[in-house]
Order: sequence, then C-alpha cells, then structure tokens
Amino acid sequence: MENPDSSNGEIMLNLIKGRHAIRDYETNRPVSEALLYKIIEAGGYAPSAENQQPWRVILVKDQAKQRRIGELAVERTIELFGRITPRQEIERRLNYVRALPSRERTIDWLITGRRFEYIKGEPETDGAPILLVLVVEATHVGNSQPTLRGTGGVYGWSSLRHSIIAGSMFLQNCWLAATALGLGACVSSVQLDHYDDVREISELLGIPHPHWTPIMCLAIGYPKFPRVRGPPRQPPEEITYVDTWGKNWQPQKKSMK
Ligand SMILES: Cc1cc2nc3c(=O)[nH]c(=O)nc-3n(C[C@H](O)[C@H](O)[C@H](O)COP(=O)(O)O)c2cc1C
Repeated sequence: MENPDSSNGEIMLNLIKGRHAIRDYETNRPVSEALLYKIIEAGGYAPSAENQQPWRVILVKDQAKQRRIGELAVERTIELFGRITPRQEIERRLNYVRALPSRERTIDWLITGRRFEYIKGEPETDGAPILLVLVVEATHVGNSQPTLRGTGGVYGWSSLRHSIIAGSMFLQNCWLAATALGLGACVSSVQLDHYDDVREISELLGIPHPHWTPIMCLAIGYPKFPRVRGPPRQPPEEITYVDTWGKNWQPQKKSMK
C-alpha cells in the first residue's frame, strides 16, 4: 500500500501543475463568503520574514470600483501591446501557440485589451465576480503584525523587497486554495504597473499610500470553461545550474521516482 504522505505529495504536485490563469468566468455565479474566507486564510499561512505578515487584502465589492480597476488594466494593455510593443515581438512571444487561429485571437485580445476585460467583473465579458487587491506594507515593514509593531524596518533590513516576496507567496497560496476548492483565479498586475495607476487605485480604495502599496489583484470565480493546459514551462535542467552560472544541471532521471 502506498504511504499516505507520498499520495498527498502527488495530490499537491498535481494541484500545483493544474493551476492555470483563468480569464473567463461565470460572472453571475456567486462565490460564497465561506470559500473566500478559506482562500484568504490560506493566503495568511504564507511565510514572511520574521513572520511580519506585511499584507492586507481589499475585497472589492463595489461594482463601480471593480470596473474602474478593470478599465485601467484594459487601457494599459492597449497602450503596452497595442501601441508600444511591435507586433512581431508579440508574435514571437506567442509562437508556442501552435494553432494559428488561436494565436491570432490571443494577439487580437492583447492589442485590443479584451484579454483583461475579465477584471471589470461584467457579465458581457465573462468577468470575475470577485476581485481581491493585495496591499503590502512598503515603508515600515513589520509594523503590520502586532508582536513586531514598532520594530519593523527600524534596523534597515526589513525592506519593501520582503513585503513583495511575502505578498507573492500569499497570493500563490490563495490561488492554489481557490483551485483546490474548484474555483478559477488569476493574478494581475497590469493595472498596478504604472505609478499613476498605483496612486489612482490607492485613492479609490482609501489605501494609505505610499506606506501601504497595492501590488497585485486576484480575480476569483467559477471558470466558464475548463482549462487543462497553460503556457509551456522550461524544464528544471534548463533553469538550474550547478556551482557556476551557465553550467546546466544534468539530473539523473533514472533515480527519480
Ligand atoms: C507578477 C505577475 C503579473 C501578472 N500580470 C497579469 C496581468 O496583468 N493580467 C493577467 O491576466 N494575468 C497576469 N498574470 C498571469 C500570467 O499571465 C500567467 O500566470 C502566466 O502566463 C502563466 O500562465 P498560467 O498561470 O496559466 O500557468 C501575472 C502573473 C504574475 C506572476
């Protein structure tokens, strides 16, 4: 009989590999607060330096606010892919999409911003019913957690970098939890990549920016279509070096179980 720990390991690995970016949702199918609670709770189990927990989540329930955040995502996408990035470059990046019609559609969705309409949460574009905004402490990292309050950042080694790393782990936990619960999700940052947008979203949500900074959003909902495949990944032997930069690892695959 297989030992239970190793079968849990397989379940976990399958969950990790089965998580995909979902951008089409059943907008009118609500996600219960009980599920949302579990997702945010899972986020909070992420590690953070000194257990600083330098994060806050804003659950955007106001439809007008969600729409505005989505509009910023669409506007920036049009600027980035529709105006700044040359078409050949977009084609080069998407050449892993073998079927030409699918590649053309993806390109069209990027240059028109359609790809990120889901962030608005509107049924006409299969929007996500839930939008979370992850905010991290930017200037006094450590103050966000009562037992460390007053010490964080004082000695100079708790930086924004710590918050961003921890916040990313928080969101990944949320994303995996959502997947495990049968939901779809997708993180997005395009609406928070430009300083002006960070400021606008901070004002919209009353975030005390710049001390606290919104870094990413997580859309959540029931997926409209099942997605079984995502973009390809580089295998470990391509991204791992041994002892020296550029000296690729050659794993002995036979011994892998
Ligand atoms: C830092 C970061 C920023 C991202 N920004 C966006 C975004 O603005 N909009 C979006 O729809 N997806 C965004 N994504 C999702 C990625 O496009 C997606 O995870 C990646 O293409 C791999 O696909 P997969 O998640 O299905 O494996 C972002 C992911 C990360 C980690």
